[in-house]
Amino acid sequence: MSSLLLASPVDTAAPSGAATAVRLQDVERHFVVDGARRPVLRGLDVQLRVGEIAAVIGPSGCGKSTLLRLIAGLDAPTGGLISIDGSDVTDTDERTAVAFQEPRLLPWRTLAQNVELGLPHSLRGRAARAERVRELLRLVGLEHAAGQRPREVSGGMAQRASLARALARNPDVLLLDEPFGALDALTRLRMQDLLLDIHAAEPTTILLVTHDVEEALYLADRVLLLRSLTADPDQEAVSIARTIDVPGIRPRDRADRGIADLRAELLEGLGVHTHHSTRPSENR
Ligand SMILES: Nc1ncnc2c1ncn2[C@@H]1O[C@H](COP(=O)(O)OP(=O)(O)OP(=O)(O)O)[C@@H](O)[C@H]1O
Ligand SMILES: [Mg+2]
Repeated sequence: MSSLLLASPVDTAAPSGAATAVRLQDVERHFVVDGARRPVLRGLDVQLRVGEIAAVIGPSGCGKSTLLRLIAGLDAPTGGLISIDGSDVTDTDERTAVAFQEPRLLPWRTLAQNVELGLPHSLRGRAARAERVRELLRLVGLEHAAGQRPREVSGGMAQRASLARALARNPDVLLLDEPFGALDALTRLRMQDLLLDIHAAEPTTILLVTHDVEEALYLADRVLLLRSLTADPDQEAVSIARTIDVPGIRPRDRADRGIADLRAELLEGLGVHTHHSTRPSENR
């Protein structure tokens, strides 16, 4: 239950002395396609502090999912080192949990049974396991739907079950690959607040991949902007184009002026032009 031991006030500005949960050193991943080497990630240096929420944003195909797969041990880097809590990632292990854009629940099992699949083997005893499943379902607001099957519930409910299953491991690092991408706008906003509630209760280190600039700025302490190496003519370019520290204690005001400025900056970095000025002296 390592993450529960770290319960602390949700001051988003993690103290600079905070321990490092995830460390990537000069990570590179290329694929060989038709005999040609295609770099996807290069020169990635990232340190996630314990309890931090970091968001990864970048154009489609730039390597966001690849990055998560590397940290989860589902794929191996072609260069560099990845470690969690100081020890190298060589395979999948119980320190990380992943939730994807689609819930990936077993259709013939109930939500409670799906969540139970995420529990670590080390948690012994029927009663203890059942109690933990109940606790997780309560955490994501699904206690009344425990006995329902995935096809009987809404997309948002299925996604919450998927989140509960990922949390069931009590991971040191929670990897989320566009977890709310398939949900309608209102459900998405609710899920963002739910994620913050969960993080306040169990402050796990979270790496969140999203296409949504507002979501990144609402949830994250830091936003990593990745560039597409295939689209970049610079052969030496590294994957991280920019890192943005997001100020403010969560929950943040979605309409905050400073956040709006960062939004414009991020969109600019993604090659989207906005009419919003990034200079605070204008438009006031
Ligand atoms: N096993 C593989 N073999 C060859 N190429 C791969 C493999 N896996 C990923 N790629 C390539 O790596 C690049 C990055 O893929 P990835 O799925 O990480 O992108 P992404 O940033 O998550 O995109 P999206 O936003 O669309 O989900 C793509 O060009 C993809 O085609
Ligand atoms: Mg992806």
